[in-house]
Amino acid sequence: MATSVDIITDQAFQQCLSPDCSATFDVGDVYTACPKCGSLLDVAYDWERSDVPDSLRWFESKWSRRNEPLCRSGVWRFSELLPFAPPEKIVTIGEGQTPLIATDGVAKYVGTNPGTLFLEYEGMNPSGSFKDNGMTAAFTHAHMIGAKRAACASTGNTSASLALYCCSSKLMQAVIFIGSGKISYGKLSQALDYGALTIQIAGDFDDAMLRVQQVSKELGIYLVNSVNPFRLEGQKTIMFRVLESLDWQIPDWIVVPGGNLGNSSAFGKAFHELHALGLIDRIPRLAVINAAGANTLNSLYNDNGLRWNGGRPDQAIINKYYAGLDAASSKADTIASAIEINRPVNLMKCLRALDWCDGVVREVTDQQMLDAKAQVGANGFGCEPASAASVAGAKLLREQGVIAPSDRVVCILTGHQLKDPTATIAYHTTDQEEFNRVLGKRGVSRAAFANRAVKVENDLDEIVRAIQLNS
Ligand code: F0G
Repeated sequence: MATSVDIITDQAFQQCLSPDCSATFDVGDVYTACPKCGSLLDVAYDWERSDVPDSLRWFESKWSRRNEPLCRSGVWRFSELLPFAPPEKIVTIGEGQTPLIATDGVAKYVGTNPGTLFLEYEGMNPSGSFKDNGMTAAFTHAHMIGAKRAACASTGNTSASLALYCCSSKLMQAVIFIGSGKISYGKLSQALDYGALTIQIAGDFDDAMLRVQQVSKELGIYLVNSVNPFRLEGQKTIMFRVLESLDWQIPDWIVVPGGNLGNSSAFGKAFHELHALGLIDRIPRLAVINAAGANTLNSLYNDNGLRWNGGRPDQAIINKYYAGLDAASSKADTIASAIEINRPVNLMKCLRALDWCDGVVREVTDQQMLDAKAQVGANGFGCEPASAASVAGAKLLREQGVIAPSDRVVCILTGHQLKDPTATIAYHTTDQEEFNRVLGKRGVSRAAFANRAVKVENDLDEIVRAIQLNS
């Protein structure tokens, strides 16, 4: 989209992340890549001109003004740390009011000490996933530049979020691209209910991502996928809220599922900026967890040694890896459909985040994710399969001795349990055929934490007996 609108801001600008380019652009320009070199863009700030407070505690004062929409929003409460939007242009639906909960049941499962394991429950967002944090920011930018249509490719949550912002604000039409047969019904039903123009293409998410970029360019539609740098500004606030919930203490680990790698990129930027501003004195370590069936980052990082390398990662390693995927016609395949992605668009930014945060990358199997998901469900909040990658990853890192028993660990639960109930039902089922149909083909052989429904005749005595036997 080649729109450019003069936006009066002396604080924010866009900047190419490649150190060999570093070109800067106005906030009113709309690009999803640097027009000079093709690298990703950041939203950057002239902090000298902004109103950043001296202490993060200052943000607590906003709570007392909860009747103001921008103070109630868990994103815009921190607007001084993402100062790109004039307040009158901000579109908020009360996103980001999400709790951080300590859970000893999950700590036991992961193998850390009581009181050390925290779940950041992003499923509490209006559309049921963390995406609303980024969508309010990208949508606000789209509104700032006067967009009338906004598009995304999605495994389901980004599209649900975009559709919700469009229908609640009535400012834009949502055009969403999804792959065939991959999106969960929970997420698809949201987009349809919210009235999004839904384009289902014969292909997977990676195909849809490619197409939406082409179509947006051709038709001048505003693109809200996380190649959009404004999305990531909103997602930074997940980390601000984590710190706030910990009374501004820094945890040892942030563990996050990795799909398109927007969250991990945003989290790294959040901590880097807070540190540079002198608002925190230490940066937590970041663990990004791939599904084994969609493990591009893990393969590149751990098997091929790809690193940020001061902004000059070895492109030959990446090209060779993708050529190998193409040659083998290899498609991502995991029960965690939200992260079933082989070509993460934010790879470069994620490498930078891993560098900033002394990060690690791991992959977990569908079996590990579903067991972890059942433990999350049994000990607190539920989550969708992809979200449980964080807990499964924390457990793996604990087993490997990377995470210590005394470490304070925050696992991000990215999406609500009800988003994708198919796997949950199959995991707990008594019907072996159903189990095999949904899970067996993905190498899931057991449901260690299954809570099976008790089948009973429609008879009062039988029902009473069943309850007595099972309680
Ligand atoms: N968890 C959930 C529930 C997601 O929906 C996604 C991404 C991720 C994790 C991965 O996050 O891309 O920042 O690494 N879902 C996108 C979508 C791709 O279209 O809804 P990431």
